[in-house]
Amino acid sequence: MRVDQDHATAVAPARFFDSPFSRIIRQPLILGLFLPVQSGGWSASLLPRTTDWSFGYNATLTRRAEEMGFDLVFGLAQWTSKGGYGGISKYREESLDPFIAVTALSTITKHILLISTIHVLFGPWHPLHIAKFGATIDHISGGRWGINVVTGYSPREARMFGSQHVEHDRRYDMAAEFTDMLCRLWGASDDLTLQGKFWSLEKAFITPKPRFGRPVLVNATGSPAGIAYAATHSDLVFITSPAGHEIDAALASLPAHNARIKAAGAERGRELRTIINPMIVCRETDREARRYHQAILDAADQGAIEGFVAHQRGGDAVAWKAHGDTHRALGGNIQIIGSPESVVDKLVQLKRAGCDGIQVAFFDFAPDLEFFGEAVLPLMRQAGLRI
Ligand SMILES: Cc1cc2nc3c(=O)[nH]c(=O)nc-3n(C[C@H](O)[C@H](O)[C@H](O)COP(=O)(O)O)c2cc1C
Repeated sequence: MRVDQDHATAVAPARFFDSPFSRIIRQPLILGLFLPVQSGGWSASLLPRTTDWSFGYNATLTRRAEEMGFDLVFGLAQWTSKGGYGGISKYREESLDPFIAVTALSTITKHILLISTIHVLFGPWHPLHIAKFGATIDHISGGRWGINVVTGYSPREARMFGSQHVEHDRRYDMAAEFTDMLCRLWGASDDLTLQGKFWSLEKAFITPKPRFGRPVLVNATGSPAGIAYAATHSDLVFITSPAGHEIDAALASLPAHNARIKAAGAERGRELRTIINPMIVCRETDREARRYHQAILDAADQGAIEGFVAHQRGGDAVAWKAHGDTHRALGGNIQIIGSPESVVDKLVQLKRAGCDGIQVAFFDFAPDLEFFGEAVLPLMRQAGLRI
């Protein structure tokens, strides 16, 4: 990229002691909630539950998570055709845009960090748009916004925008330039003229500046190109289990995986934090949790599972390659099923495996979050995972 003047790139929020991001990384284990802004959440099952994509439902969850001391909430972004991923439930047909949803959520919360996914390469987005939008939500939220930069792993989604699917590693080259321009726009003290390979700027300027250098930068990956992108740009990396969803296999594979990602950051003088998303089914006893899990599986929406698996297989996401289709009725990247004691035991092991955080999802979000707050969080404190 040709840069006409030597403008500083934005300072990372971790460099400000009082930034919301600095506050959350002082926790032994960062705790996030994956918001169900899409119908069906993560589970292609027809077992009755409250989980709902609506803004009101997600607002209630976010407020409750904040009251319980959660560090962050996160919304995914997806593009489906009519009928979603199919099945009786029309899995994920309805979804809120997470960027707009978390902007609204920021006005009804005070402390919790709000991360939204944006497909930066879809449509006509320019870095100047996102730099401006990002600075705006940064000010609305008091520095509590983070962007999960996704490049779009699904050719079907790219075609919805009238675009052709760009090859996997080239998408990360494009995302790197996009993010670099964002950071320069957020950091520049004067007009910026840049000539990149994919985008350019002429006398562009963003003010107000973000409150703590720049918004939190996040990406989700398991591929060498995605890890290289994270090492240069991200504060938080969403990792997936290289060994599939089963928790003990995942725990065995995660120490080396986490170490590899952190070493990639360290090579560039940067400290990366990794966060993983467990689907948690927790009941008073292991037996009850297993029974509930079985009920979720027995009500599997087979058509939805097939549709979702076909969607994922049609994409090129490296990070999900080890995941088969047997667990999709419950979903999630890894699954933890058991009593509060058993759940916390696995969370301790995730921390020992090098994960800096977890972002939990539930089958029936509202009641399961309440139970998590009552029964699991106190044990997490006792185990030293939360302060
Ligand atoms: C926690 C998590 C959240 C994700 N959210 C989204 C999303 O909202 N939209 C999307 O298109 N991809 C999403 N992805 C997929 C990633 O963008 C990416 O395609 C995937 O992790 C594979 O990356 P890789 O090929 O570099 O390994 C998510 C992945 C994870 C692990």
